[in-house]
Formats: sequence, structure tokens, C-alpha cells
Amino acid sequence: MGSEEVDVFVICASDEIERGGAKAFSLSRIDASGEARPFPIVVLRSHDNVYLGYVNACPHDGVWLNIGSGDFFTKDRAFLKCGRHGATFEIDSGLCIGGPCNGKSLEPIALAVVDGEVCLCGERLVEDDRPPGAFEDHDETMEIMIHPD
Ligand code: FES
Repeated sequence: MGSEEVDVFVICASDEIERGGAKAFSLSRIDASGEARPFPIVVLRSHDNVYLGYVNACPHDGVWLNIGSGDFFTKDRAFLKCGRHGATFEIDSGLCIGGPCNGKSLEPIALAVVDGEVCLCGERLVEDDRPPGAFEDHDETMEIMIHPD
């Protein structure tokens, strides 16, 4: 066929995230060597209803941006902020504009909103963050793996 298939995974209902808000998800993805790796992401919804996503890892030390307070934003909510050493990032671009990783960027992820659901495109996931009981009617071809954190 020649064309590459793109994997699309539903992350959440689009109205689960309020406008101007953000939500974190702990996923796992298969890396280039075929191994499952933790893949934490944050999905942001802008006031004008655009969905954006980044890998939830600070370019400075790799921690979750919402470490500590649980919040992703500066007090005025104009920027994303890392809870560890206070690096700030432009929401639209993920570029760090202040703090120890100044000039570096968050890694963007590809999202699409389809039929009211936020979907992640182009990644091979092995798990999502639903509790095990939520898988009762799962597709049996789906591989489920619980990772230890
Ligand atoms: S780990 Fe994010 S600013 Fe240091």
C-alpha cells in the first residue's frame, strides 16, 4: 500500500478539560527498540478551544512539570511552569523563556479532536491511565501492561 499507518488513541473526552485548563496522563509507549517506556503527557485546552499537548517532562531535569503543587501554570496562568525549579514556558510553543532550561523546548505531541474526543496520533501506546477495572470490555487484541510507578 505504501502509506504508513498512523496510530490514533483516544485520550479523553474533549470536555473533560476546561478551557484554559490542563490535564496530565500517565501513558506508556513503545520506543524504537520495541520496549515499553513511561510516557507522561499533558493536554492543554486554550481559551479559544485549541488543544495542545506536550510530553510532561521538564527539559531541565526531566520531572513532571506539575510536580509539587500539581498545577501546570504560573499564577497569572499566562505560562506553563515547572514546579521543581520554576522554569516557565510559552503555552503555544513550549519554549522555555525563563529558568534553568531557558531556550529549550517541551517536546510537542500530535493531538487531534475527533467526534468530541481528544486523540493522540502517531505513538504506539501500551497502556493508558484507567484503573484495571475499566478494561472489562476492552478489545482483546490490546496489550495491557501495568508499569510499577
Ligand atoms: S526540573 Fe524543571 S526547572 Fe528544574
